[in-house]
Amino acid sequence: MYGMIHRAARQMILSSGDPAVWPQILDRAGLEESDFITGQSYPDEVTFSLIGAVAAELDLSLEETLIRFGRYWIRFADESAFAHLMKMAGQTVSEFCENLDRLHANINLSLPGVDVPSFQVRSSDETALRITYVSSRTGLEPFVTGLFEGLLVHFGQTGQVRCLGPHEGGIDFLVTLDG
Ligand code: HEM
Repeated sequence: MYGMIHRAARQMILSSGDPAVWPQILDRAGLEESDFITGQSYPDEVTFSLIGAVAAELDLSLEETLIRFGRYWIRFADESAFAHLMKMAGQTVSEFCENLDRLHANINLSLPGVDVPSFQVRSSDETALRITYVSSRTGLEPFVTGLFEGLLVHFGQTGQVRCLGPHEGGIDFLVTLDG
């Protein structure tokens, strides 16, 4: 994945309570600082070994690490060079989710060849959203859960996120919104 993702992971660790763990994460993943160039694409194995090393060094499960990284990504993206895209995508969780594919399509213009997922809102009302996530990658469901949780926080909304499982070539998520 693009180095921007790696930079977000680094930022997540450096802004946490224990930044001293960062060199150990790099060591464990067999990575160097030069593997963190925003505009360069890296093999997915590099990204996955970085996330695996974060999990091991923080003594967290891979699932919990991906959830935390998803939540963090929303804050990171909102302060990145792409913050305007976050703003343009919508004023509410549901409007934003309807525009997710458009947001990623815009990113494709700046980061050529990016392999972004697709999100389709199946149903939406004031109480819940059902969204199908389609990706060429596997195993990132907890990341998506964390992303939707991060979006709830971003929009000052409380609610719950649940992965419902495979559906029509993708994976369904239910985001319930508190009244
Ligand atoms: C301005 C905001 C955002 C930016 C700049 C951004 C950018 C990116 C980039 C660069 C990748 C890596 C793809 C690659 O290198 O091939 C990616 C992957 C991904 N993005 Fe976004 N994204 C943004 C917002 C979001 C949001 C709000 C969501 C969902 C709620 C999301 C869901 C994902 C997921 C799940 C992946 C992992 C790849 C996969 O599932 O195949 N992104 N994004």
